[in-house]
Amino acid sequence: MFIAYKAGFRVFFCPMTELIDQIHKRLTFAIISHPDAGKTTITEKLLLFGGAIHIAGAVKSGKTARTAVSDFMKMEQERGISISTSVMGFEYKGRKINLLDTPGHADFSEDTYRGLSAVDSSLIVIDSVKGVEERTRQLCVVCRMRSTPVATFVNKLDREGKDPMELLDEIERELAVEVRPVTWPVGQGRQFRGVYNLVENKLYLFRPGEDQLPTDIIAISGVEDPKLDEAVGPSLAKKLREDVAMIVGVYPPFDHDEYIAGKATPVFFGSALNNFGVRELLENMVALAPYPTPKQADERVVAPEEQKFTGFVFKIHANMNPRHRDRIAFLRIVSGKFERNTLYYHVRTGKTFRASNPTAFMSQDREIIDEAWPGDIIGLHDTGTFKIGDTLTEGEFVNFKGIPSFAPQIFRLIMNADPLKEKQFHKGLNQLAEEGVVQIFSKLHQPNARVLGVVGQLQLEVLQSRLVEEYNASCKYEPIDLSIAHWITSDDPKILKEFVDTNTRRVLVDIRGNFVYVSDSEWSVNRIMQQNPKIRFYTTSEMVDKRA
Ligand code: G4P
Repeated sequence: MFIAYKAGFRVFFCPMTELIDQIHKRLTFAIISHPDAGKTTITEKLLLFGGAIHIAGAVKSGKTARTAVSDFMKMEQERGISISTSVMGFEYKGRKINLLDTPGHADFSEDTYRGLSAVDSSLIVIDSVKGVEERTRQLCVVCRMRSTPVATFVNKLDREGKDPMELLDEIERELAVEVRPVTWPVGQGRQFRGVYNLVENKLYLFRPGEDQLPTDIIAISGVEDPKLDEAVGPSLAKKLREDVAMIVGVYPPFDHDEYIAGKATPVFFGSALNNFGVRELLENMVALAPYPTPKQADERVVAPEEQKFTGFVFKIHANMNPRHRDRIAFLRIVSGKFERNTLYYHVRTGKTFRASNPTAFMSQDREIIDEAWPGDIIGLHDTGTFKIGDTLTEGEFVNFKGIPSFAPQIFRLIMNADPLKEKQFHKGLNQLAEEGVVQIFSKLHQPNARVLGVVGQLQLEVLQSRLVEEYNASCKYEPIDLSIAHWITSDDPKILKEFVDTNTRRVLVDIRGNFVYVSDSEWSVNRIMQQNPKIRFYTTSEMVDKRA
């Protein structure tokens, strides 16, 4: 390997083929869905296939095993929900898979949106009983905005659910993406016998409680093959023949380009709890899902094949392990090769940063790594250096897009509840705000007052409980008459200053130093917008970040 020195940075040139090989090994995707559709169960099964965890028997009683895998916070354990996005890595058939399990609950959507900026594709999980639900719809809007390829797993086929044809219609209509069934269920609920792979012409037979390995697989020469009747009985065989005839007539065959463009989604059926259809799903993800993709920065598009390393922080998590009160910045590598102990350029501060103990996330373990490649997500030990959205490079000034804050809908004044714990309160509040648990704003006319902004009520509870658990501090909230926030900017700094000066009571400052105009009604903000045509109002921070 040839090492060059440039402007104080050690620049590595690795052979192009090594970089390309590593890129082609990577597969980084998020699992998204409405709560309870089965994301965590699927994640667990995928980890099982990847050898990242070893659980004997089907994980039926979920929570104990699940919490060990991806729900690590106390409140998550108590409530049985995922609050923060977990990253898990494992290898399968020569591919290094980085998997993000995102919180399904709407109150934590910011964490999920940021997680989606760090992946190259998504897997949507749909509950066959409930069909397409609200959160899935919202998350798919974000995927569509970014043209992220999505695969779909229809789960819980062991239960009496909606008709699969109806589900396909619903997915197409509600998620505005064309569907391409790859597998098709044979029966449902108590009648569920397996899935028929429409591409391979193979029948995968279901046995309830199946643990690691699927099922009998019967290769048939098409649905007319009499082996089908023997395997599933004449009535289900007849129904399958009718279904397949209909599918072939209605849906064009799966086209990889359409999937990569985010226009069509391959659909798989199964039952995660019974570990049925998950291996087939994984095999297909490995074969179909995209390699690490180029990412849009404010300045230009950065391709993974570029020799020089770039990456961005999409998540910060304090106290992941209560025994080491540490803070971890999650960095997605966009291009080039990342090397341990190398000086990199921290774009926002203009300073250098050296990672002496970068970690990979393999299941719940963190192991120190010496190098990482595009698509990888690594943990950087953070002593307060990073904020969400920060970029590291080998010297170039680039800022990646797509890691915005979203306008809060719930506001509170937050105060320290224990005067003896003032220091702990401020430390905790600042760290948790930098982590993105809540947004903190200061008032221009009362710089010591802190206004808290959240998207969902549960975030308030999370803040309160984490302040107690992790910082030994407590807080109280007071209502405040605000409900609508917009980040503001103007092409003319003088006009912006005048606006801020005349509206000091209505302008807050976020942790990046950006101005936010707050209001109590849609009507009054519309009026202000009309009166100030040279001020631009945004519902996310993305367009105004000064990255100061
Ligand atoms: P989430 O992460 O998307 O919120 O869903 P999670 O995996 O926690 O699954 C939600 C519930 O659905 C769990 O039951 C889980 O066992 C169940 N489930 C997941 N996949 C299947 C499936 O294929 N078939 C059936 N019948 N159920 C499935 P729970 O009662 O809420 O929790 P637990 O007591 O089982 O842990």
